[in-house]
Amino acid sequence: MTISKKLQNWVDEVAKLCKPDNIHWCDGSQEEFDKLANILIEKGSGKKLNEKKRPNSYYFVSDPTDVARVEDRTYICSKNKEDAGPTNNWMEPAEMKKKLNELFDGCMKGRTMYVIPYSMGPLGSKIAHIGVEITDSPYVVLNMRIMTRIGEKVLEVLGDGEFVPCLHSVGYPLTDGKKDIPLPCSDTKYIVHFPEERSIWSYGSGYGGNARLGKKCFALRIASSMAREEGWMAEHMLIVGITSPEGVKKYIAAAFPSACGKTNLAMLTPTLPGWKVETVGDDIAWMKFGDDGRLYAINPEYGFFGVAPGTSFHTNGNAMKSMEKNSIFTNVALTDDGDVWWEGMTEEKPKHLVDWHGKEWTPDSATPSSHPNSRFTAPASQCPVIDKDWENPKGVPISAILFGGRRASIVPLVTEALDWQHGTFLGTSVSSEMTAADAGTVGKVRHDPFAMLPFCGYNMGDYFNHWLDIGKKSDASKLPKIFYVNWFRKDENGKFVWPGYGDNIRVLKWVFERLEGKDVFEERPFGRVPKKGVLDFSGLNMNGNEEKLFEISKEEGLAEVNEMKEYYKIFGDRLPEEMNEELSKLEERYKNS
Ligand code: GTP
Ligand code: SPV
Ligand code: MN
Repeated sequence: MTISKKLQNWVDEVAKLCKPDNIHWCDGSQEEFDKLANILIEKGSGKKLNEKKRPNSYYFVSDPTDVARVEDRTYICSKNKEDAGPTNNWMEPAEMKKKLNELFDGCMKGRTMYVIPYSMGPLGSKIAHIGVEITDSPYVVLNMRIMTRIGEKVLEVLGDGEFVPCLHSVGYPLTDGKKDIPLPCSDTKYIVHFPEERSIWSYGSGYGGNARLGKKCFALRIASSMAREEGWMAEHMLIVGITSPEGVKKYIAAAFPSACGKTNLAMLTPTLPGWKVETVGDDIAWMKFGDDGRLYAINPEYGFFGVAPGTSFHTNGNAMKSMEKNSIFTNVALTDDGDVWWEGMTEEKPKHLVDWHGKEWTPDSATPSSHPNSRFTAPASQCPVIDKDWENPKGVPISAILFGGRRASIVPLVTEALDWQHGTFLGTSVSSEMTAADAGTVGKVRHDPFAMLPFCGYNMGDYFNHWLDIGKKSDASKLPKIFYVNWFRKDENGKFVWPGYGDNIRVLKWVFERLEGKDVFEERPFGRVPKKGVLDFSGLNMNGNEEKLFEISKEEGLAEVNEMKEYYKIFGDRLPEEMNEELSKLEERYKNS
């Protein structure tokens, strides 16, 4: 292995601090994966699933207190508090380092320390970047091998180049004869980012984005800060290729908050004949300008970490097929024949399961069998509709960007922005009902601009400005067109008005028509919507709700404007003037409507 001096020095330094019993450099091989999986199973930390039902796949359950991202324990430690901004937790870097040094001191005693060199993005792509995660969790190593490109091949590309050091510990040293537990964690949790030195320290959690540091920590929080400095974009977006019945193919990216439908849209099975959808990525997009002035996106990831509940052959067959083998399942239920199940996987519930707490479960049980944020980790290459260019180092050219959230009322099914600046304004206005992806209050509507609230590694006001800058420095005709969608409007009875899932192709069809410049829209105060009769409702029973999907009354609209005015106050002088301008124009349009 070619290990640079810089990397060796950092590993030595970390070993000196964390005091592990052993150090293991991950080569990324299948043998290594199998060996680590076996160690975990022999210890009783997890189970191998029925080889006939789900080859080479594993089952784990985390500590019931460690099941989601912890936004209140997540910090952006820039030198100045203002640079972290009003939406991030902040602590002075030296003070935070002192705290972390105390926590990490001896935290890996009795454990092996794993060094995982990984690439976010195809190896050697100009849009890709390399990180090195040090972790004391073999479960994290297994997941990282599916979610990112890891091992020796990464070290070769890295040479003595730059990497983002990512230090992770579950915070459960095995000292004084303490016994290990299945997936250990600590009551003390810190997920900390130092954007100026581009480093990550994560302590106390073994689950999801808290522990697999390539994903939210690097690919969004650190990368968004890098992107701003270097003039590119790191976004919480899926990337999908769409081909029309005429054979025209366009790529779109879409930013929805956590658990709001990215994975589903990324691999949707169209209900309209002749349309084809192919997946590039389901969670994160890194975008840079190509020589032709267009924005090109790569998926920096290598696998999917998808929400299990609600995923079925009916809603997302391609996700189901992606996880048929070589996958990891966490916090779902076990069937009697050694496979997995979760709420919504099949219409008929199994008669007996072992739930995620390890307890007997039957359809009469009062609690769900799986945690609402239980997830599958599956290789992207196994997705039956993976795009032929998903690993193209150049990325794919993006024609449209969708924003979306989970809103029971007010936000229309689809709105087209008037231009990039208005689209940026729509991005700032995204709000969504909170989901189980964060350890917070589920169902509460909160502002989540650009679906980046928990993931922006710097001042959100500066982030808005970065979006405007991207617009200013490019040829408007080459920029993606911006849309705002909402699959989640409900009727008086609390039922979704829009069928969603595969039927979302109907909205994409209209987006496609707009990208081709067709005159199929009408103006509303808030933006453009499909002209009456244009959106393809064929074969759907909408119960006369077709118009309702696009209604915002004048009163509701003006109330939203006032609410936005209040919201914008938190950004103080970091709010770009253009956003106030857009808000005033919107207010005028409502008043005149
Ligand atoms: P993260 O992985 O947390 O970033 O989530 P995500 O944005 O990828 O969301 P995902 O596609 O996993 O969907 C989350 C939940 O929303 C699942 O329970 C889905 O079944 C549900 N969902 C997705 N798309 C739709 C839709 O079009 N309509 C409705 N009603 N529900 C949907
Ligand atoms: C999200 O919460 O947006 C996720 C899951 O994609 S995690 O990787 O845990 O952040
Ligand atoms: Mn996500």
